[in-house]
Amino acid sequence: MTARFISLEGIDGAGKSTHLAWLTHWLHIHDIQHTVTREPGGTPLGEKLRTLLLNEPMHLETEALLMFAARREHLDKVIQPSLASGKWVVSDRFTDASFAYQGGGRGLNDHKLSELEQWIGGIQPDLTLLFDVPLAVSQARMANSRQLDRFEQEASDFHARVRAAYLARAQAQPHRFRVVDASRDLSAIQAELEQIMKAFVA
Ligand code: TYD
Repeated sequence: MTARFISLEGIDGAGKSTHLAWLTHWLHIHDIQHTVTREPGGTPLGEKLRTLLLNEPMHLETEALLMFAARREHLDKVIQPSLASGKWVVSDRFTDASFAYQGGGRGLNDHKLSELEQWIGGIQPDLTLLFDVPLAVSQARMANSRQLDRFEQEASDFHARVRAAYLARAQAQPHRFRVVDASRDLSAIQAELEQIMKAFVA
C-alpha cells in the first residue's frame, strides 16, 4: 500500500487532539507505520516559528508567510521523507488551516494563499478529516482551557468565519474531505471514523 497523507482540521475546541489519538491508535492496530506531526511546527525550526505565530502580534501577511515557511520546512524534513520511506503521515493541521484562519478568519485574499500553496509545491493530503462543531460548543470547550493562544483569543465572529471557510473548502473538494460532526458523543464520532478509515484503506 502506498503511504498516504492524512490531515486533521477544525476550529479551536473541535476536539481534534482526542480524534488524533484515536486515529493513531487505529493505524497502530492495523499495522500501518506512520509519523504523527503538527502545524505550525513539526520540525525544530517550525516549532520556533510556532511559538512566534501563537504569541507575537504581526501583520496578517507576515503570519501567512511564516505559516508557509514553517510548512515548507515541514514538507522537506518530515512529510516528504516519511512518505518516501513508506510511512503514512498524520498531520494535526495543514494548508487548509491557512485558508480557514488567514483567509476566512483574517480576510487574506485566497488568491495569495493559493500562490503560496503552489510556491511550496501544491501538495495536498489524500484525506482531510474536518471536525466540525457549532461555535457554542467550541467556545464552551475553550472557556475551560488554561491559556489561550493568539488565535483562540479571537472573538467568536473570527471563529465563525474560520468554520465557514473550512466548510466551503470541504464542499469544494469532496474527493479528499470528510466532514465529521464532532458535537456528538465520542462513540458516535469514533464509529464514523472507523467507517471512513475502512473505506479509505479499501
Ligand atoms: P492548534 O492546532 O489548535 O493546537 P493546540 O491544539 O495545541 O492549540 O493550534 C494552532 C493554531 O494555529 C490554531 O489556532 C490555528 C492556527 N493556524 C493558522 O492560523 N494557520 C495555519 O496555517 C495553521 C497550520 C494553524
